[in-house]
Amino acid sequence: MKVHQLSETIGAEISGVDLASLSEVEIAEIKEAWLSYKVLVFRDQDISVEQHIAFGSYFGELEVHPFADNLEEHPEVIVLEAGGDSPRQNYNAAKDWHIDVSFRENPPMGSILRGKVIPESGGDTRFSNSSAAYEKLEPDIKARVDELFAVNDYTKMFGPTTRFNSEESHTENIKEYPPVLHPVIRTHPETGGRSIFTNNFFTSHIDGVDSEESEYLLEKLSQAINDPSIQFRVQWKPETFVMWDNRCVHHVATDDFLPSFRRMERVTIAGDRPF
Ligand code: SIN
Repeated sequence: MKVHQLSETIGAEISGVDLASLSEVEIAEIKEAWLSYKVLVFRDQDISVEQHIAFGSYFGELEVHPFADNLEEHPEVIVLEAGGDSPRQNYNAAKDWHIDVSFRENPPMGSILRGKVIPESGGDTRFSNSSAAYEKLEPDIKARVDELFAVNDYTKMFGPTTRFNSEESHTENIKEYPPVLHPVIRTHPETGGRSIFTNNFFTSHIDGVDSEESEYLLEKLSQAINDPSIQFRVQWKPETFVMWDNRCVHHVATDDFLPSFRRMERVTIAGDRPF
């Protein structure tokens, strides 16, 4: 297995492995590289849906997204389509920097996204190292956010005014997924690294401070994630797989390929309660 670093602080391309038939040693090496580089890119992996699921399962239990377009026969696989004449138009991933499913009490550990249909140009995904973003915060901001908690709420992105929830389904879903408090800065349970865990998709406000302070701090944290010096981008090809650590990485898609068609499939690995 070869590991090729893709930028100074985040991302590596892994070659010389077949995701359909990994040895225990290779799985352990992938896990180690994942913890070091945070985002791993695998090219030319023409594997089945079942093998994609099996690959994700090596790292933990897979979760089913409550509001996404999931494959009927494999609900743990999310389908993200945009452009063309797809009935499942989904531009959400390109709306802003985010952490997947942070509205859960136990947000996912990671995600493994596969490029299925890739437009001729555009449609890259960008990744930001939220641990490096934390380290680069001004000392005053760091001190102000270090011990705070923030409210994460699915209705910001998947609320009853979107196609993912009606007033009726929302009434039920909000009982199962009520707004949840997570630390503004979380500690990675495996590496001990600290990283920014508020995100533009799901964090509604910071708890325990007035709305002006909450908005100010969220803007500062968002600017830190938006720093190009701690980011890299993936140019997709069909059968490229990208695996990111949701505990220390923010990501955003780009919708510069429209009206061409793009289809991605994702499995999501369950995680722990952030601390
Ligand atoms: C995602 O946000 O999980 C999908 C990103 C993408 O479609 O590039």
